[in-house]
Amino acid sequence: MSLWGGRFATGPNESVAKLSRSVHFDWRLAPYDIRVNIAHVAGLQRAGVIKKDDAEQITTALHELAQEVASGSFSFIESDEDVHSAIERGLVSKLGELGGALRAGRSRNDLVVTDFKLYLIDHLLEVADETLELAKTLDEAAKNQMGLVAPGFTHLQHAQPILFSHELAKHSHALLRDVDRMRDWLTRNSVSPLGSGALAGSSLVPNPEIIAAELAFQGVTRNSIDAVSDRDFVAEVLFIFAMLGVHLSRIGEEFTIWNTQEFGWVTLDDSFSTGSSIMPQKKNPDIAELARGKAGRFIGNLTSLLVTLKGLPFAYNRDLQEDKEPVFDSIEELLVLLPAVRGMIATATFNSTAISKGVLDGHALATEVADFLVSGGVPFAQAHEISGKAVALAESKGLEVHELSDDEFAEIDARLTAALRAVLSAQAALDSRTSINGTSSKSVTTQLEQLEVKIRGYSSWIASERKRFSGMMGA
Ligand code: ARG
Repeated sequence: MSLWGGRFATGPNESVAKLSRSVHFDWRLAPYDIRVNIAHVAGLQRAGVIKKDDAEQITTALHELAQEVASGSFSFIESDEDVHSAIERGLVSKLGELGGALRAGRSRNDLVVTDFKLYLIDHLLEVADETLELAKTLDEAAKNQMGLVAPGFTHLQHAQPILFSHELAKHSHALLRDVDRMRDWLTRNSVSPLGSGALAGSSLVPNPEIIAAELAFQGVTRNSIDAVSDRDFVAEVLFIFAMLGVHLSRIGEEFTIWNTQEFGWVTLDDSFSTGSSIMPQKKNPDIAELARGKAGRFIGNLTSLLVTLKGLPFAYNRDLQEDKEPVFDSIEELLVLLPAVRGMIATATFNSTAISKGVLDGHALATEVADFLVSGGVPFAQAHEISGKAVALAESKGLEVHELSDDEFAEIDARLTAALRAVLSAQAALDSRTSINGTSSKSVTTQLEQLEVKIRGYSSWIASERKRFSGMMGA
């Protein structure tokens, strides 16, 4: 159904209709479009634009339509241009001319932003929930591995011993930042553009604040020209998804490496691995690889929107219709990817012998030698130099630095006394890292407890937001 045409001698050419059509993807907005229509009818009635009887009829028809959309008995057809025209067609087929009454006082330009924001709020909470579940799984895995010592890496070279729990929990922290960004997004973007009309505001609906509140928005935008052309909220959400995708890609890379024959740190469950069509022996970490690979797509979706927005004149331009598919794609992919990654980690076996095996290789205690000197009053630069000499000597003898004898240490520097031995173990190295963010058992235990509290906090935020929007979502 066409929402325009009065001034045209002919309908659009077939290629034009095909190009401008968006209903095959923006149909996802249908439940939100109906909800916005319901709130808008009430607004028109309050403003005296639509009579009470008519408003009631339209509202009843919209509720029916919502059910038909949910059950699939009403859907879009070939001739619909977009979700808004499809819903109006449904309404007109029920009510005749009266179905067109609610177009008063607004434009598709403010309507589409409202629908899209409501869709995003709803789905963002779903992504937040799945992200949180993954953070929880990592936190639990970290708790289960408490006490296991692993080599910590920088530049993919052995650096210092760490607790393996510390290693696992780092991913939870990154994921919680993603959830935090989602919360922040919601606070900033929960404002309704309704009342903006095409670009200049509305003369027919004097109180968009009431409609906004009914839709569970926390306010109304304050510049109608900006409101209909602002897509910052889309760019922001695509950045959040891209960042989350990058975090998942780093988890994916780590598990891929840990799963190699050379590392053998992790054994993936058969149900979270895949086989090869030619090599019968193969068991591949495809989930981890897809987690790594999909990041490219999430970044692409963000980039595509930013390029669409760059240099775009105000206010609405049809270019803006390109804002939705990247979002639908990122959300739908994340909602498939997140549970798969969670399942892979929840069912993985961590092989403690392999993980702790090389913990002191690569002179991993050289920093302890330097720190020992510093605690005896030697300036760090000098201590670093002396410890470096110890490493060179150990290397020339084919030993690790902690394997040098007391005499050999003393020969390098008299301040490397026999007392050094007490700090030259992985356990001692860990125990000394007691800073609030450090890798000592005490620090990590507290960190994991705090992580759990934080996760619970975000969980209740999601629950309360869902409750706040549930009226709107259930309509
Ligand atoms: N389908 C359009 C979009 O997504 C709706 C807004 C159309 N507005 C217009 N002035 N043609 O952007």
